[in-house]
Amino acid sequence: MQVIDTRVDTTSEDYQENYRAMEERVADLRKELETARSDRPDKAKARLAEQNKLSVRERLDLLLDRNAPFLEIAPLAAKDMYDRKVHGAGIVSGIGVVEGREVIVHANDSMIKGGTIYPLGVKKGLRTQAIAMENRLPIIYLVDSGGAYLPLQSEIFPDADDGGRIFYNQAVISKMGIPQVCGVMGLCTAGAAYIPAMSDEVVHVKGTGAIFLGGPPLVRAATGEEVTADELGGADVHCRQSGVSDYLAEDDSHCIQIIRQIVKALPPPRKAEVGVREPKPPLYDAKEIYGIVPRSLSVPYDVREVIARMVDGSEFLEFKALYGPTLVCGWAYIHGFPVGILGNNGVLFSDSSLKATQFIQLCDKRGIPLLFLQNINGYIIGKEYERGGITKDGHKMVNAVATATVPKFTVIIGASFGAGNYGMCGRAYGPRFLWMWPNGQIGVMGGEQAAHVMITVKNDQLQREGNPPLSEELVRQIKGPIVDAAEREGNAYYSTANLWDDGILDPAKTRDVLGLAISAALNAPLRSDVYGYGTFRM
Ligand code: COA
Repeated sequence: MQVIDTRVDTTSEDYQENYRAMEERVADLRKELETARSDRPDKAKARLAEQNKLSVRERLDLLLDRNAPFLEIAPLAAKDMYDRKVHGAGIVSGIGVVEGREVIVHANDSMIKGGTIYPLGVKKGLRTQAIAMENRLPIIYLVDSGGAYLPLQSEIFPDADDGGRIFYNQAVISKMGIPQVCGVMGLCTAGAAYIPAMSDEVVHVKGTGAIFLGGPPLVRAATGEEVTADELGGADVHCRQSGVSDYLAEDDSHCIQIIRQIVKALPPPRKAEVGVREPKPPLYDAKEIYGIVPRSLSVPYDVREVIARMVDGSEFLEFKALYGPTLVCGWAYIHGFPVGILGNNGVLFSDSSLKATQFIQLCDKRGIPLLFLQNINGYIIGKEYERGGITKDGHKMVNAVATATVPKFTVIIGASFGAGNYGMCGRAYGPRFLWMWPNGQIGVMGGEQAAHVMITVKNDQLQREGNPPLSEELVRQIKGPIVDAAEREGNAYYSTANLWDDGILDPAKTRDVLGLAISAALNAPLRSDVYGYGTFRM
């Protein structure tokens, strides 16, 4: 494989300005992550101490192997939503290592409104389960939750992808043979009671853990019966009498110790085999990506410079380098794992779409995971290109992306607009994971373009009706809110708050995250036995 020869001038003013701008974005990201991690009301901290419970982070520290990485999923979910205090949607979720085994963890944070489940908490739970299913990762639930956040119950309960789906998924996960272990580390009230009930094995903490369909206040209201939480659904009740729980733990640490033993006793995973090589770092410093990525999304740059700072030895075997130049395709290794990379170098034309289609088929046939580096404004438009069949060539690419069954990974490193999002494996195309860089923007189109479309439509309408076109003032009034909304809602933070992605990444850490994610993905078979595609329109 050839080493990518860099052309970046790290002394140029432009590079330095880009670097400072990205450094600032990354500093903001760190600040946001720290707030999400530690901003908890004093009242909640005091209550936790009073109950002699560990915080969710302390529980995870005990559960996960020391010195092994923890790949947190959507840590900024629900950012700026609700009362701006439901950090991470009230749940910590992520891939970590327990007794040498890759697992996914889903843990309530009881310091956020008693661990109650908000609408985005449901979405995060479903995402965690989807990751477990796609990658065949054992799932560990640490439950400490007052069940549904009642003021928003209508957004949590009734629909197909609401709370009920969590327990439905648990049944499916169990049928798939993926282990599910549950620690009852606080209240598991109402819906939350089904999480232990539907798990394979349940460890129940004495004194603080309780499982019941209706808590003491509800029982009192419904039947007049006076009962404490412990009498109703404590560890003794469920380990000795009902049989809902399987192991009794004296306290939080003991509970975690038992869970670790359960994981240790699981049969070893059968990881998919890919041609792994000895990993080696890139030749160039990953932080140079800060200076390479322009401050504005409209400024083009060579994605090979990013690839050079992500792949082992900066080595890249470029496929069809002379054809379809607006899409760079080629093979490389990341932390020793083989990958087929597709990175945008401009809008997608017919030739670049056909190149992508061929490349995806090759990777899929050979069992090589696919990595999409999205910086895309869309497919080319216009009379010439429609006549040349851009729609049918774009369709081939979208078809191949949708049906390829090797693990797919997507990083939005800049723009993600229009059908380009689809062709480059946006969330709807089933990447195992999707992340954004802090400069990323996502939407049907950019704000300026969207405003221009709306103004053109309005002027055409006025002309049809025999009226004069919009005045400059009216144009401004229409344009302003459209551009503002596109900027606000296309922003990486808005995306991650809504769980459209699995998190925002420091560009310099992307390579390491990808290494962890590829390793996790190999817990599932490399690709489906049913290899094939839909009909390609020729
Ligand atoms: N919906 C909305 N808010 C809830 C809630 C619920 N289901 N359960 C608790 N909260 C809120 C409380 O109002 C309190 O809010 P505040 O911080 O603004 O005062 C916060 O969560 C913490 O509750 P608190 O009772 O002070 O803490 P705790 O640690 O002593 O107990 C629970 C936490 C969850 C065990 C307890 O509040 C409880 O039993 N809640 C009701 C559970 C229930 O019956 N749920 C049915 C859902 S279907």
